[in-house]
Amino acid sequence: MEPTNSDHIILDHYKKVAKNQGLHRNSTIQDPVIRDAEIGFFLKSLKRFGEDRGDFNFSVLDVGCGNGILLTKIKERFPTLDLYGMEFSPELLALAKSRELSGVDFYQGDARLKESYPKKFDVILSERSIINILEAREQKQALYLIADHLNEGGCYFHSESYFEPLVNLNRARREMQLENIEPSKHNRFLREFNILALRDHKKLVEIESVMPSNYLSTHFFVSRILHQLIRPEGGKVKYSHLVSFMAEGFGPGVGNYSPILFRTFKRRN
Ligand SMILES: C[S@@+](CC[C@H](N)C(=O)[O-])C[C@H]1O[C@@H](n2cnc3c(N)ncnc32)[C@H](O)[C@@H]1O
Repeated sequence: MEPTNSDHIILDHYKKVAKNQGLHRNSTIQDPVIRDAEIGFFLKSLKRFGEDRGDFNFSVLDVGCGNGILLTKIKERFPTLDLYGMEFSPELLALAKSRELSGVDFYQGDARLKESYPKKFDVILSERSIINILEAREQKQALYLIADHLNEGGCYFHSESYFEPLVNLNRARREMQLENIEPSKHNRFLREFNILALRDHKKLVEIESVMPSNYLSTHFFVSRILHQLIRPEGGKVKYSHLVSFMAEGFGPGVGNYSPILFRTFKRRN
């Protein structure tokens, strides 16, 4: 597939990310709370999947693996898994390969193309990569290909951003005279009906995640609303103690204010 105009938005963006962030763990996501929560979600999900099937010798594909940070953490925790990382940006792929992780196959691919899925997998993961596909039709194509390349009984774990909670967050911000947050130009948030289509056409049913899907809701409310209202001039702009303190006090998963949702889908037999 020849790069389209919107592909250039993605490729240019990640070329800069690769140059500026290198192998840093917060590459592609500056907020460390989100990164930690995502890694926790994927590791816990893989643990449950392995315990349920009784072994840790299954295959896992990370679609849009970036600089390989997530697969590095997975390899450390579950060294016997058969791991694959598909990446669209040549610069991020080169960084992932430079980790020289034994037994991890990082390869160039495009989630929208059938040929980028070399086989069926037991588990497929995506971490904010489907939202980088800027055409609705192509997002659907990628989600359908993911579903088609899961073995029966296999799981798709995703941390992706959704439009509906963003509307909620912005409604709460406007009540406090704060401006709307808009998705950046390299993201197109998913909508709930995308997920219903997976169930109806691809035998993928949503099952309960190991962590609540709205786990990050409290963090978003505190950091994107309360903190903005309380912060005095000259106060810390991001990632403050105040945010950690309040989010911990309220506990995770209050309300529906996190665009990023942790969701789990299982391929029916
Ligand atoms: C938000 S980043 C997340 C990367 C990595 N999961 C992380 O958390 O650092 C999304 C990744 O998806 C990749 N990506 C975008 N479009 C893609 C496509 N069509 N096929 C495969 N990967 C894609 C991007 O290059 C980028 O590395």
